[in-house]
Amino acid sequence: MSPCRHYLQFLDLDLGEYTYLFDRTRWIKDRFKRYERYWPLQDRTLVMIFEKNSTRTRLSFEAGMQQLGGAAIFLSTRDSQLGRGEPVEDAAQVISRMSDIVMIRTFEQEILERFARNSRVPVINGLTNEYHPCQILADIFTYIEHRGSIKGRTVAWIGDSNNVCNTWLQAATVFGFNVHVSTPPGYEVEAERAGVYDDRFYESFADPMDAVRGADLVTTDVWTSMGFEAENEERLRDFQDWQVDADMMRAAAPEALFMHCLPAHRGEEVAADVIDGPHSVVWEEAENRLHTQKALLEFLVLGKQNT
Ligand code: CP
Ligand code: NVA
Repeated sequence: MSPCRHYLQFLDLDLGEYTYLFDRTRWIKDRFKRYERYWPLQDRTLVMIFEKNSTRTRLSFEAGMQQLGGAAIFLSTRDSQLGRGEPVEDAAQVISRMSDIVMIRTFEQEILERFARNSRVPVINGLTNEYHPCQILADIFTYIEHRGSIKGRTVAWIGDSNNVCNTWLQAATVFGFNVHVSTPPGYEVEAERAGVYDDRFYESFADPMDAVRGADLVTTDVWTSMGFEAENEERLRDFQDWQVDADMMRAAAPEALFMHCLPAHRGEEVAADVIDGPHSVVWEEAENRLHTQKALLEFLVLGKQNT
């Protein structure tokens, strides 16, 4: 409908735009830490639609929009007409006439795409079954803050080939790093579902210890993502050998970082002494959701800014 930019998957922005966004994030974060008011989105409204639970995504978008001088409105399927079968196309028409930008957390990517096709304003993916681009935006910013450029580095993904994993794979093709993936048999990456058309940037390993060897960043996520709860018991059995533990971190590079998008299950996908240990940057990673998304909101609503 409209020519506005959306952020539906990681490949929707190019390397130059990510470089800009990270510069902008640093600037916005510095100002925020100095308690300096910055209100470029005064009188602008973000609508957030949640079809799944959230703590970090809701909080970072809502607080971020307020800190940029705008307002954020929360809608959930449970208490809006979306939960009673109003077509997503109709909802997009209406919601985008009353707001300046929309964030959606939903099930199939296709629902998000249908909304975006009928929206007059930018739409952001706040997590779908297939992708979680805002998470990897924050994760790569966090890596760069701690260790510098991620180009040519190795990221080890241990566990489920889920939305977060798919997004790491897309990001590898943009930033030029390698992803070593290890999943249990039957849970392997599906390149087409991941939206990855260049397999030069990832390699699959049957043994998770081989995947983490020498890695610069080790990362994982829940064994059962939202929407897949019926498979929980089976997954608990299938993923037992894919817990990121201290042995895996010892096999990684000495300066390796550990990341997890959270919420985490200690004793399942990650051992407590790893997520609470010296390699872990999970709290900085979570905080950076706020700062990176503020830069993203500013970019999608106002375009590039000069600082
Ligand atoms: N990582 C993340 O997206 O967290 P929430 O599910 O709490 O939003
Ligand atoms: N893969 C997880 C991420 C939660 C932030 C899920 O989709 O439930």
